[in-house]
Formats: sequence, C-alpha cells, structure tokens
Amino acid sequence: MLGSLLFLAPLVGAAAVDSNASHRDCPGYKASNVKKDAGSLTADLTLAGTPCNSYGEDLKDLKLLVEYQTDERLHVIIYDADEQVYQVPESVLPRVGGGSGSSDTSALEFDIVEEPFSFVVSRDEEVLFNTSASKLVFQSQYLNLRTWLPEDPYLYGLGEHSDPMRLPTNNYTRTLWNRDAYSTPNGTNLYGSHPVYYDHRGEAGTHGVLLLNSNGMDIKINRTKDGQQYLEYNTLGGVFDFYFFTAPTPKEASIEYAKVVGLPAMQSYWTLGLHQCRYGYRDVYNVAEVVYNYSQAEIPLETMWTDIDYMDRRRVFTLDPERFPLEKMRELVTYLHNHDQKYIVMVDPAVSVSNNSAYTSGLSEDVFLHHQNGSIYEGAVWPGVTVFPDWFNSNTQEYWNAQFAQFFNATSGVDIDGLWIDMNEASNFCPYPCTDPQAFAISDDLPPAAPPVRASSPRVLPGFPEDFQPAKRSTAKGQGTKGAKIGLANRNLTDPKYQIQNAAGVISMNTIQTDIIHAEEGYVEYDTHNLYGTMMSTASRDAMALRRPDVRPLIITRSTFVGAGSHVGHWLGDNISDWEHYRISIAQILAFASMFQIPMVGADVCGFGGNTTEQLCARWASLGAFYTFYRNHNEINDISQEFYVWPTVAESARKAIDIRYRLLDYIYTSLYRQSQTGEPFLQPLFYLYPEDKNTFANDLQFFFGDAILVSPVTKENSTSVDAYFPDDIFYDWYTGEALRGEGTTVTLKDIDYTHIPIHIRGGNILPVRVASAMTTTEVRKKGFELVIAPGLDGTASGSLYLDDGDSVEQSETTEITFQYSQKNCELQVSVENGSTLQVNMITLLGESGKKTFEHGFSLSESINLRI
Ligand code: NOJ
Repeated sequence: MLGSLLFLAPLVGAAAVDSNASHRDCPGYKASNVKKDAGSLTADLTLAGTPCNSYGEDLKDLKLLVEYQTDERLHVIIYDADEQVYQVPESVLPRVGGGSGSSDTSALEFDIVEEPFSFVVSRDEEVLFNTSASKLVFQSQYLNLRTWLPEDPYLYGLGEHSDPMRLPTNNYTRTLWNRDAYSTPNGTNLYGSHPVYYDHRGEAGTHGVLLLNSNGMDIKINRTKDGQQYLEYNTLGGVFDFYFFTAPTPKEASIEYAKVVGLPAMQSYWTLGLHQCRYGYRDVYNVAEVVYNYSQAEIPLETMWTDIDYMDRRRVFTLDPERFPLEKMRELVTYLHNHDQKYIVMVDPAVSVSNNSAYTSGLSEDVFLHHQNGSIYEGAVWPGVTVFPDWFNSNTQEYWNAQFAQFFNATSGVDIDGLWIDMNEASNFCPYPCTDPQAFAISDDLPPAAPPVRASSPRVLPGFPEDFQPAKRSTAKGQGTKGAKIGLANRNLTDPKYQIQNAAGVISMNTIQTDIIHAEEGYVEYDTHNLYGTMMSTASRDAMALRRPDVRPLIITRSTFVGAGSHVGHWLGDNISDWEHYRISIAQILAFASMFQIPMVGADVCGFGGNTTEQLCARWASLGAFYTFYRNHNEINDISQEFYVWPTVAESARKAIDIRYRLLDYIYTSLYRQSQTGEPFLQPLFYLYPEDKNTFANDLQFFFGDAILVSPVTKENSTSVDAYFPDDIFYDWYTGEALRGEGTTVTLKDIDYTHIPIHIRGGNILPVRVASAMTTTEVRKKGFELVIAPGLDGTASGSLYLDDGDSVEQSETTEITFQYSQKNCELQVSVENGSTLQVNMITLLGESGKKTFEHGFSLSESINLRI
C-alpha cells in the first residue's frame, strides 16, 4: 500500500537545482591564527569576501580543529565559531576520545592551504583527500565541500542503497535521507544513512572517510568537464565533522571504522537459527499451523514471527481479541519455548490516536512530538491517525519501558524473545503537508475506530508570563544559543532552498514534518530525522533489556544510522521477489556487515513484495543460509512462501540449514570476534584479496567468515555460475576436491536448484558440529568435526569460542586455537578454560582428496596430535 503511495509522490528532488551553478561564486574562506602542536592543529576561518548566500546565509566565522587521534585516525572538524550549528548529539553517537596520536608518527598527514582555505590529507605522500577542488561553502542551510580523487577510484559504502558494491564514479548521486522505500529501487535513498566511504587503493592500502553529519545530503561522485574525478558533499546543515582512517587492507579499515562508531552488539546463539515470518498470518492458529508445518517438513525452525496482524486494528501494544487473543498467544509462546523455539513480534513507533493505553499514557506523560504551536503532531500509519514518540524527551524511555514491561510481560503478556521494529524512518502515509491524516488512514478491512480522546489544543493562559504559554513548551530552547550545538535559529525547516534528491519528494514528504521541535534541548527534526530509527532502536533495546536483564536482546530494525550496529541488527526492508533483488542483496549485506559494522543483517528470503517462484525461492533459501540474519518473510496478499510449500525449496532449505547449523560455532566465533575487534564476519572478496584487482567489484560472491567462499547461482533457469577464484587453494565443501585458484573465472556446472556452491579457503581449520539438528539448542549438544584445509604453504589455523550462548555476563568461556602444519603432520590445540565438548573426528583436506580420522579428543585441555 505504501509502495503505491510513494510511487505517486512527485519526484521533486529529481528536478533539484544544480548546486554547482549557484555556489560557484561563493568566496570561500581564509585561514588565520594557525596553531600546531604534536597532537592537533587549530585555525580560524573567515569568509573571504562578499557572502553569496546561495542556499542560506554564509557563516562568517568558522573554526578548524584537526586531531591526530591515533596514528591511523585523523579527526577534522570545521564548525561555526559560535558553536550554535547542529552537531550529531553525543547521546546518539558517543565520540571516541582524543587518544595518543601525533603528527610525527601518524600514517596520515594533514596540510592546510590558508587562502583560499583548503586542506589535504595524505598517506605516504599519496594524496587521499584534497579539498582544493572547490571553495568551501558553509551556510545556514547548505554545506558544500569537494575533494579531488584519483581517476576511476574504487569507492564503497555510502549507504543505504541498492547500487553495486563498488560505487559508480560517473554522474552518481547518493542521497542520504531515511525513507520508507518500498521495492528498494536503485539510485534512490533508502531506509538508513551511513555517510562513510572507503577508498581502496590496492597495495597502497585502504582508507575510510566518515562525515559524521545526520542532515539530509547528496553526495556526488563525478568528473568535471575536463575529466577530473571528484566526490562532493552537499548537505542541508550540520558541520563538517570528518574522521579519516587508514589501514593496509580493507578489512583493517573496517576495524578502524568500528573504533569510531562502536563495536557491534554480540548476538545470542539462537538468533542464528532460521526465522519464519510473513505479513498476513490471519490468526494465532495460522501462526501455529506454520510452526507445525515446519516440523512436519523436517525443516528446522528456530523462531516464529508475527507482523502487525497480531495487533488490535494495528495499534501497537494491543492484541486482536478475536484473532490473537492473549490466552492463545501465551499458549503459542509456551509451546515454542517448550520446544526450544522462539517468538518475535513487530512494534512500530507510531501510536494510534484512539482509546488505547499506549496513547492515553503517552498523552499524560507528554512523550509525543508536537508542532511548534504546541499541538500534538499527527500522521497516518497502519492503525490510521497516529502520533509519534519523541525519543529526545527524557520521559519517553520510561514510557517505552512501561509499555514493554506490561505488554511483553513474561507472566501476564506476550513473552517475546526478540523484537522487530519497523516504519521508523519514520514512515508516514500522510503526505506533506499533512493537514488531514484521517484521509490517509488505510482502512482496509478494519472496523471504524471509536472516536479517540484527543489531546486538546493548547490554550493561551490569559495574564500568565510567556514561559507558561503553550507555544513555549516545544520551542527550540537551545537554538541560536552560543555553544549549544543544537541548531541555528530562523531556518526554513520544511522547504530549504537546496533540495536533496529525496525520492519521496520534499524532505517532509511521507515522514515526520521536519519543522517539528524535539523536547528539552530543542533539536529539530530537520537535523535529526536520520536518527529517528536508531534512537528508537536504543530505546527499544533498553526496554527489552529491562525485561530480561541477563540475556542479549535481539532487535531487528529497518532504519539505521552510523553506530546502530552497537545496539541492533537490520533487515533490508521491502525487497521484491525477483532475481535482481536476490542478486543485489549480496552487495547490500556486505556493505552493512563489513563497512557499516552492522553484522546481523539479512534480506527477506524469497523476496517480500510480489509472488516468488519455486526456483527463485529454492535458490534464495540456500543463499539466505549464508546471511547472518536468515529470515523468510513476505507481504500480505502474495502467495505463501514458507520453505515447505514447494519440494525443491524444502530440499534446498534442509540442505543449506544443515550446513549452516553445523557451522553455527564457526559463525558464532567469528561474530564474537567482530564484537570484540570489529573484524568483519561477512566480507567481500577484496577484503581477503586486497591486491587482486579482479576481486574489487565482485559482489556476487562473498566470504562467510575467513574460511568459506560462497558462489551462488545468480541467474534464472541457470544451473551454472561463473565464479572467480583468486590465486589460492580452495576445497569444495561437499566433495573436498581441491581447486587451485589461478585468478581466473571458473564455470561451476550442474548446480541443481537445491544446491549452493561453497568452498573452504586453504589455510583454515573449521570447527564443524558433527551433525545438525532441529533447533540450535540441540546443535549445541553435538560434538565437533575439525575440518583442516591446508593453505598453499601447508599450514592451517582456526579458532573456536564457546560460552553459554545467551548471557550478557558470561561466567565461563572457552577459547581454543587450532594450528596445523603439513611438515610434521601435527595439529596443535591450545585451550583456554576447557570445555566438556568433544572433537569426534578430523577431516584433512588435500590436493589428493580428503582423509577422515575417526579418533576423538576432549576440548578440556591443550593437546598436540600427529595426524
Ligand atoms: C513494512 C515492512 O518493511 C514489512 O516488512 C512489513 O511486513 C510491513 N511494514 C507491515 O508491517
């Protein structure tokens, strides 16, 4: 439904003014008072001529601060001298400290040009970023900065998008403005904003550039008329808050990024099992039937989900009394828990304006967003007319906690195990200007709502001082205040002169109106729109953690911002059941997992919108088994696509789940490592072969951890795939057959619809469970098979991390490393804090085939074995 609403929205952004034409004549800035010490550089920047005021007012006095935070990281911030301009609040993204870096030892060098002001960041005398490409523009509602780049660079990141992993370098605009983006069209802004790019320069190394700015922006990658390559930021506000980080390889560059935005949250073991969901399960019996059908089909189902269908007329924190009555819901959850299975439901941010307690208590606690005149802001989402929680309001967390504590109460409510949060861009069906939200309430089959108790309009209190008047309650207190970093006063917050290329239209279109002022400090939605989903994520995580303080909360969100991975996972939203979306999901998950540090990520398997086909779903069932987050989900009114619906899909799912489940400890160990160090689990090929140019744009194959290369069939009706094998040795997962990669493409043939080609990369030892099972709880009881895949040098190594799989605080953890050398045929097992688990067999792969040794040993202590 929303999809069609959005398609009808005029593409105002597409006709945006050409930024270059209007700010060409801006005077730029002159630097003075340049001061340097070992760890930093500061300067004053003064507007160097007559203001051009092209898209707002030029700010006359700026400041530059450069911090050598570490030897690999440079922080460069250009901000207004009065520190009024909005900066991303530390409460949303805590900043990393100054650290120990110094200009003498730093791998990155900073050079300033005083007039016209520009700067250069270089590494080993190679220029990485050079802003002399244009004069700096810093206006009240528009910032522009352009850097030269080398010809045809290898750039990645800048999400969320559904474009190729390697970003186009010609005439490309990446708009960042979170939006409900049904069908995830390429070339448009999608649900999240991650203004970080990686520039990979092969042997010379990889660096990343994060612009920590949450305002709407267009990032343009293009060439000038005379062919010079550039990247240009055009943002609607905020400051230029850059983090430059460098590393010898892209993998290490991702690790550097995690140091800035935070390490990702560790997930529980069970979250890696198979999840089943759909929009349109008609009642609790229908949900139960799906659980039953999975078990009958002998397809392991770990977690059952329910979409907004469970709600009473789609109102959050309510149950449909007829179709999803509390007693039956509790029976369903108990059944699942008794079978070591889990249950997850959706919560949207928008609260129905109707007689329900989430609305009435929110009203009395005053936690909803207000217009500037003090009236409550109303939009339209699934339940009809809605209001939206203000995550900046200090009462909101308590309100949200209370809703969760009550509705998801273990003894009297729906005792969910994880949470799905949606529509948090925030999505609003009522187009801007939303004067009549009722007109956009999607009625479908819903009975008419009882007239709600509405918040009465604020009345002026005659004779009382200004502070008591309603209009004051939500004014931007901090705006225009020196040093507050809340935002400049007197901006046009709904119709800025520079129009970003938001595919929905103007910036307030189908979302929360951007002139809304948040509670307390007075941040405006114009500046903080892109944070809404992430703020809902942290509030929801806290509310879930209060319910079950001892275990890691699983939250899957649609909308994300920089740093979201420290709290939540992400699914890719409303993809379509077609081959294009199947293919592009790989580039998308790779960007999130490795470049944005949100490792818990997956696409709707078999596709969300439109009818899937047996063949597509069969292929997707096995591809999805190699996403971190593996969930089948589709849209209401489309055909059912649970894995048991078709025989080939069921077979494909069973086979792929068997592999995935046997690999659960390898996955868990890799995710644990990422949560400790930032070293990515899912990786593009060039992360492991950073000097092999053939890998740089490959986004149809990927590494599942360091050891497993996944090469899915990507075309309809095809039973082969052209897979690239770098100069290395690989072993077929199924047969153990060695494949000597020569940096060429190999056509893998006869791949039936239930099969996915995977190869073990030489040099690795994989701890694999000896058998799969119907639940992850059962898998955890099995012993291990060690699969040794020697590399070209005859050695291999691996690791295994074990804990209880769920607790926040672990009392006992086991860390094991494995080393093998062909020279002396020795396997060394180093155990820290032993486990009672056993290795039951060892498989040694080699050029001449595989050998299996049935002898077992316990993982309780270190051991050396000759094999
Ligand atoms: C939009 C979400 O992207 C989709 O997954 C969900 O099914 C619908 N909202 C209904 O809640």
